[in-house]
Amino acid sequence: MARTLITSALPYINGIKHLGNLVGSMLPADVYARFMRARGNEVMFICATDEHGTPAELAAIAAGQDVATYCAEQHEIQKDIYKRFGLSFDHFGRSSSQQNYELTQHFAAMLNANGLIEERTIQQIYSIDDGRYLPDRYVEGTCPHCGYERARGDQCENCTKLLDPTDLINPRSAVSGSTNLEVRDTRHLFLKLDNPEVEAKIQSWIDSKEKDWPVLVTSIAQKWLKEGLRDRCITRDLAWGVPVGRPGYEGKVYYVWFDAPIEYIAATKEWADAAPEEKRDWKRWWFEADDVRYTEFMAKDNIPFHTVSFPATIMGSGEAWKLVDYIKGFNWLTWYGGKFSTSQRRGIFTDQALAEFPADYWRYVLIANAPETDDSSFTLEGFAGQVNKDLADVLGNFVNRTLKFTQSKFGDAVPAGGDYGPAEEALAKALDERIKALTENLEAIQYRKALAELRAIWVLGNQYLADEAPWTALKTDPERAAAITRCAFSLIRLFAILSAPVIPTLAGKMLAALGLPENQPWPTESTGDLIRAIPAGHAFTLPDVLVAKIDDARVAELTEKYGGKA
Ligand code: 2FM
Ligand code: ZN
Repeated sequence: MARTLITSALPYINGIKHLGNLVGSMLPADVYARFMRARGNEVMFICATDEHGTPAELAAIAAGQDVATYCAEQHEIQKDIYKRFGLSFDHFGRSSSQQNYELTQHFAAMLNANGLIEERTIQQIYSIDDGRYLPDRYVEGTCPHCGYERARGDQCENCTKLLDPTDLINPRSAVSGSTNLEVRDTRHLFLKLDNPEVEAKIQSWIDSKEKDWPVLVTSIAQKWLKEGLRDRCITRDLAWGVPVGRPGYEGKVYYVWFDAPIEYIAATKEWADAAPEEKRDWKRWWFEADDVRYTEFMAKDNIPFHTVSFPATIMGSGEAWKLVDYIKGFNWLTWYGGKFSTSQRRGIFTDQALAEFPADYWRYVLIANAPETDDSSFTLEGFAGQVNKDLADVLGNFVNRTLKFTQSKFGDAVPAGGDYGPAEEALAKALDERIKALTENLEAIQYRKALAELRAIWVLGNQYLADEAPWTALKTDPERAAAITRCAFSLIRLFAILSAPVIPTLAGKMLAALGLPENQPWPTESTGDLIRAIPAGHAFTLPDVLVAKIDDARVAELTEKYGGKA
């Protein structure tokens, strides 16, 4: 059995994520995991909360909680939301796990042994009133590039330039607002990326992916390589994080971006440790795992870390850890062309989305408009339009019409009698082509194209029903009406299987109406057989309306609530 390892970029712990975060990594990774499982692959699908770093600490302070309690609570909240979105992680871990502490320290030790870590004295801002150093976002001040007065120590939100805390003009503590600050010398560890050997290795690795990987991904990696890699400070003066554990490094931890990707591996160990009786083997996914195909999903801001820093850590360890085989990167999902923003009440967050509509409505629309080649704009009007047109009018209507008609004219079982003719032959042929294209696009993780095919497949079913009109045939040729009806039942099963990676709950309902279990294998047989899958006499039940339409009044209400348009 082919083995497929899939990771989604780890969502930060500080607060509930919005729809843009969901479609930038976790949701597309889930669609791929579900598809690969249906194809018969052995899949390991991993994600976790990214819990270290100053945003986590500052959010805990704002919430009036100690950071460990805050992270534990927020982890459960996010985990529950993703479960309700149908994200089928094999494990959803925490980067603050013991497993990640150990593995992060192991990687640092290996890099150190291989001469890739260097100790340096640097200058950091120390707050006398707070009694602590102020790394990254702990310090705010005026951006030296654009003059924005609320720039943070790691980056200016206004002009997006990366900053060092000591770059800020008029710095102040983000915790207390104190300006009683001084610059102190402090020892830190640097990962030596500015090094011809490391650069050459990464360069030739990225070059070897040039033909395969999305341009978005290779172009960002090449840009970084062209500018020349810089040594990276991988430690911070913080209490919360993976302890450095060297003499003289008390009160220092590894930088969040050093330990976060290592959590992909550590979370797999968490998965193994969670069920010792099953003797789960985490290492076979990550170590000397040449037969595993590893795919990563992420938004574009994460690409540099996954094409340069993390691979440098893996390569620099000198051990046989798995490198990524394919990276699927995404552009931004925008909210009416602008940014999603919590503070300005712009955009829908994942918990709110689930309170408004079933997960599959969001899953379908988000994946159909995935920001693959460009940024893509989410609008409530577009959302409602696609739910109504594709899910309700095409798919839902096909299922409800078939089941209702059959029940009223033939009873609770699929009718016998009649033969398939040229119409079914033509349908099978058209389906063959579409299924092939759908499968290829899902394999290539081209979701916009894949969903256009999926929709076209549903349309074929609707068109078939409209053309063959079993309700009319019933009057003159009841046998023929029975044959058409049987074919439509097989189509319901087929549509459910083909749709399941994207809309697993709806697919499950369709299969349940036919008395079939979920998680059916992806079709490999010829379509001629597929339209004969449900035999005469097969019992069924009538589900409630599969997809409810969203009317204009509802769109207006949501626009008001979530700040659409303006
Ligand atoms: O950008 C982010 O949301 C990060 N939390 C992603 C980390 S991905 C991985 F490296 F852990
Ligand atoms: Zn700026």
